Amino acid sequence: MILNVFSALIVSAVVCSGILIVFYSLYNGISPMPTSPKVKRQLLHVLSQNEIQGTIYELGSGWGTLAFELARRFPECRIIAYENSWVPYIYSKIYGLAVKTENLRIKQENFFNILLSRADVVVCYLSPNIMTHLQPKLESELQKGTLVVTNTFALPSWVPQQTIEVEDLYRTKIHIYLFNPEYKRTITLK
Ligand SMILES: C[S@@+](CC[C@H](N)C(=O)[O-])C[C@H]1O[C@@H](n2cnc3c(N)ncnc32)[C@H](O)[C@@H]1O
Repeated sequence: MILNVFSALIVSAVVCSGILIVFYSLYNGISPMPTSPKVKRQLLHVLSQNEIQGTIYELGSGWGTLAFELARRFPECRIIAYENSWVPYIYSKIYGLAVKTENLRIKQENFFNILLSRADVVVCYLSPNIMTHLQPKLESELQKGTLVVTNTFALPSWVPQQTIEVEDLYRTKIHIYLFNPEYKRTITLK
């Protein structure tokens, strides 16, 4: 009897989690698919080459796999990761209890509702549609010199300092931008 109740609870939790994941994937227009290990390695390499300092914002941190790696690789930086989808968010919080990381904060929030002006570095892996909506927000809030690193999808009208092609099946691109407030004007005049 107790076993049946326990099994029913587990099945209900799995079904509810699945429904929540699908709901937020549809709502956000992107699933919580993690960055692949190969791309992650390259992305971390790019960041270390740029000798980053200060606060790194990860927009849409999913299961937290990249956020924890950022915290481990850059102990002198403060990492703030935003994820609004409850299941991956809770997973990353539980994982965080096991792997104590003093310099990482994961927040259950829609990153469109937070101010990005304190970011020294912005990292994201989103969708083309989200990048289109994110671009004007970055333009109005980022400080000059903020490093923006995007996985796969580019910011529609920004010209990257550098684009790296990862040697994986999809030839994944990593776009690296150094934000300048004049940037947008220069680019749209072209
Ligand atoms: C493709 S996953 C990337 C996960 C992680 N950044 C990585 O690279 O492994 C994109 C994540 O962004 C989240 N997301 C999309 N829009 C969001 C928003 N407006 N606020 C917070 N999270 C968002 C999604 O829920 C999803 O988990």
